[in-house]
Amino acid sequence: MIEPEAPILILTGAGISAESGLATFRGGGGLWEGHRVEDVATPEAFARNPALVQRFYNLRRAQLRDPAIRPNAAHRALAKLEATWPGPVTLVTQNIDDLHERAGHRDVVHMHGALNQAACTACDAETSWLGDLDESSRCPACAAVGALRPAVVWFGEIPQHLDRIARELAACELFVAIGTSGVVYPAAGFVAEVRAHGLAHTLEINLEPSSVHSVFHEGRQGAASTLVPAWVDELLARVG
Ligand code: APR
Repeated sequence: MIEPEAPILILTGAGISAESGLATFRGGGGLWEGHRVEDVATPEAFARNPALVQRFYNLRRAQLRDPAIRPNAAHRALAKLEATWPGPVTLVTQNIDDLHERAGHRDVVHMHGALNQAACTACDAETSWLGDLDESSRCPACAAVGALRPAVVWFGEIPQHLDRIARELAACELFVAIGTSGVVYPAAGFVAEVRAHGLAHTLEINLEPSSVHSVFHEGRQGAASTLVPAWVDELLARVG
């Protein structure tokens, strides 16, 4: 059992947003318009066919503006935990949607970037971008036209905030992975990294056992919108 001051590290994946209506990557064949995500979300694909890659992300960014796509009870429960737990709560997400923020979560570490940001390949500036991106888009920082790309991490690129994540993996006393299949590294290796430090209890909350479920001390199978609020209430009952 952990003390109320204990640091908690939470890793989320596409599964936490599934019940909000956002498709996961590896459910249902994992194809988009006949393309494997791995073939669209790469720097090579962007160099080869920028319009195809921009369209892939424009469609996903448009979903974030859809009023039907809202945070679910799992996102809200994590925001409540962050606001109520006496110790540090760090949320690392592989997701590029903004549902954690819209649920009121304050400190969200987007290791794969964010869909509602654009990055300029001319001046490196990152700016908030809620509409479509294409070859006519102008960088708000340097005014370059056609140099903007989604500020997301593609296959073959280095995930963000890895130094901070490594520090918090070493310090946490509770590590919880929610809604991730455990097939994409480095996130899939986080549980082994935590276990190597020997400090923390590790819990996986997922619809089905992930590829790394056997590395966790504990697994709870089911829908995030049911299991995550129950788990948070269990934890907060200790805070009194
Ligand atoms: N509740 C809990 N878990 C769920 C739910 C749900 N309602 N629905 C699906 N899941 C689980 C699935 O069983 C699966 O294990 O969520 C996981 C989603 O796995 P992926 O689709 O592989 O998503 P993720 O693990 O986040 O992918 C990691 O891969 O494509 C790249 O950069 C992309 O960030 C992504 C990374």
